[in-house]
Amino acid sequence: MPLSDLENFVRLFAESLSSGTFVKATVGNYKGANGQLQKVTVRLVSTRKGELVQFVNRYKTREEAKNFSRADVPAILAGLFDEGFRSGHLFTAENDFQLAISKKGRAKLTRSAPTMSELPDTSHNRKPETPLDASRKYLHLLGITTPEGKVRDKKQAKFRQIGRFVSILDGLIEEAGLKGSERIEVVDMGSGKGYLTFALYDHLANTLSLNAEVKGIEERDELVALCARAAEDCGFEGLRFSKGSIVESDAGTPDILIALHACDTATDDAIFKGIVAGSKVIVVAPCCQKELRPQLAYPEGASPLNVFGLLLERETESVTDGIRALVLRHRGYKVRMMEFVSPEHTPKNNLITAVLERRPSEGAPAEAESVMRHYGITSQRLRTLLRNSGYSD
Ligand SMILES: C[S@@+](CC[C@H](N)C(=O)[O-])C[C@H]1O[C@@H](n2cnc3c(N)ncnc32)[C@H](O)[C@@H]1O
Repeated sequence: MPLSDLENFVRLFAESLSSGTFVKATVGNYKGANGQLQKVTVRLVSTRKGELVQFVNRYKTREEAKNFSRADVPAILAGLFDEGFRSGHLFTAENDFQLAISKKGRAKLTRSAPTMSELPDTSHNRKPETPLDASRKYLHLLGITTPEGKVRDKKQAKFRQIGRFVSILDGLIEEAGLKGSERIEVVDMGSGKGYLTFALYDHLANTLSLNAEVKGIEERDELVALCARAAEDCGFEGLRFSKGSIVESDAGTPDILIALHACDTATDDAIFKGIVAGSKVIVVAPCCQKELRPQLAYPEGASPLNVFGLLLERETESVTDGIRALVLRHRGYKVRMMEFVSPEHTPKNNLITAVLERRPSEGAPAEAESVMRHYGITSQRLRTLLRNSGYSD
């Protein structure tokens, strides 16, 4: 039997929590028996027990907050509608969803463009949210914290970014069904100074207690040496770094492939490796999308805009990442595009997350093909790599 709109609202709510796209929610239009109760707001909060979901009941003269684990949320939410709430509003980084329940109890769900694409600060007092423990040794070895475990002033944004990254990855790992794995393998391409690589390893091995093998691939000798030394100092036995280029390295068959801020087509090389390896999760934060710039022009009708170089550059960034996302979808991945907290406050902070959920579609991807034709693009690196290797791109 198809799900009702109320069940769908509860499902979408739970999905946004596990995928890391949840921003906030409200439940209102109360028609129940409690004369004081007015509405309920829902947000994420960071606590000593980790990230929890906070429900704040607003009464006429007071508020009452209670925290729950993500797993409890579907039952709590369904209970609120049973009690007499008749509307719900869910804000995610991808869509807004509105649920309205009529007097006769008929539920209607509508979807609209997201009001807020920024992921929330989940701390109680609006301090930077992070699931990270600042006293961890690797954070000091990598220069994020002082020897006493205090985040350095200039590293606050980086610390927040690492925390947000771990939260997002945690949701994706759960969604991909990897939390129960005996062994989990991750490759981080273009691992740089290893901030995110260490944090992810620490989360997998020490917070989730998984048997984790995490490998950073990086072309700069000095960064490989620095990270390898720090991993040894921390006793992170499953964390390794090796020198190599993304395109030539043997990625093996990792469950999770990440490439964050790998320049230009290095992101395509990394996505290609992930697709070929059948990785369950692929996460990239593209930057310097230059490849399509010489090919891209606004289509007829919008061509007067071609004179504005800056706009064309932004258009190139969107179209490049859009094609990558459509190709991943074609290859069977559930793809999300979100904003990543950027330490440099650059507008170039798209994060593309992909979770393998079905078999690849047959033939060429009509959607990517159509976008390329529209913008006059004849070749794109990811599609070329796939086609040359005999994959439907
Ligand atoms: C901007 S840094 C990002 C580091 C890290 N992923 C992060 O987000 O914090 C990009 C790193 O990727 C490395 N890199 C770029 N292209 C690469 C390639 N083709 N093969 C291997 N490493 C590459 C660079 O040397 C640099 O350390």
